[in-house]
Amino acid sequence: TKIEEAARFIKRLLGEHRLDHPEFKDPRVLVICGSGLGGIASKVSETNPAPLSIRYGNIPGFRTSTVAGHSGTLTFGEMGGTPVVLMNGRLHTYEGYAIWDTVFPLRALHQLGSITTVIVTNAAGGINRSFGVCDLMCINDHINMPGLAGLHPLKGPNFDETGPRFLPLSDAYDLDMRKLLFQKKQELGIARPVHEGVYTYVSGPTFETRAENRMIKAMGGDAVGMSTVPEVIVARHCGWRVLALSLITNVSVLDPPASALDENPVPLEHGMASHQEVLENGRVASLDVEALIEAVVKEL
Ligand code: 6GU
Repeated sequence: TKIEEAARFIKRLLGEHRLDHPEFKDPRVLVICGSGLGGIASKVSETNPAPLSIRYGNIPGFRTSTVAGHSGTLTFGEMGGTPVVLMNGRLHTYEGYAIWDTVFPLRALHQLGSITTVIVTNAAGGINRSFGVCDLMCINDHINMPGLAGLHPLKGPNFDETGPRFLPLSDAYDLDMRKLLFQKKQELGIARPVHEGVYTYVSGPTFETRAENRMIKAMGGDAVGMSTVPEVIVARHCGWRVLALSLITNVSVLDPPASALDENPVPLEHGMASHQEVLENGRVASLDVEALIEAVVKEL
């Protein structure tokens, strides 16, 4: 299959790299870097053993990321002494890729047989009014809007070798991993608020309307974004433990628009979401995200 072909290619490069670096170990943890969070790669040790980077475009079957802020490389190495693989640049359905293509890298990496844990990061809009810009949110549950409507990464023939046809997701976000994250926040003395809450996955590429944001709030969503959930679902299907962290890059507008029937309508001055804002605020908070992820990975 295409998955096996991609896995063979990766295994071959890992094997060749190991000729020069016999101490090189297969990854135990997969880290997926969200928009503006590629700096997590700086936590992969540059030496001892030297990391191995592979561009998505060179791997058979891999699609390449087309979004600014997503570079498109797999990096194998060690973080805090733990062997990891970083996905720097993720694939989204709004780029036009089929949903199974967006999770293809996870399926291929599962073939290595060594990964037990996945850590997923993303940039998200804040729906919960207690969330501020540049706060973090540890995801404890999700609402899969496209999934509920039929766009689901497990649709189609089931991969019986990895998981069941009807996968339960009632405990998708590992409690011990979440506790570890909050413990590391304390130990590192990170002052930035880290909330816990429900991530709502929408397809994008438009940002939500005000009415959509109110709907998401009414449904119980605390944050909203265009990624992560397909990957979490496939990770759970692969039997991996999941930790997911959102960086709140902007707060969503919940108020209705100015009414044309008002005497003095008040126009929107702020709060219009933009990709530039997402990347800029990502940079501000990303050092804390990097430190947190490194500290968590070190314990795995
Ligand atoms: Cl406000 N919405 C969505 N869908 N994705 C985002 C976002 C908002 N902010 C960052 N990513």
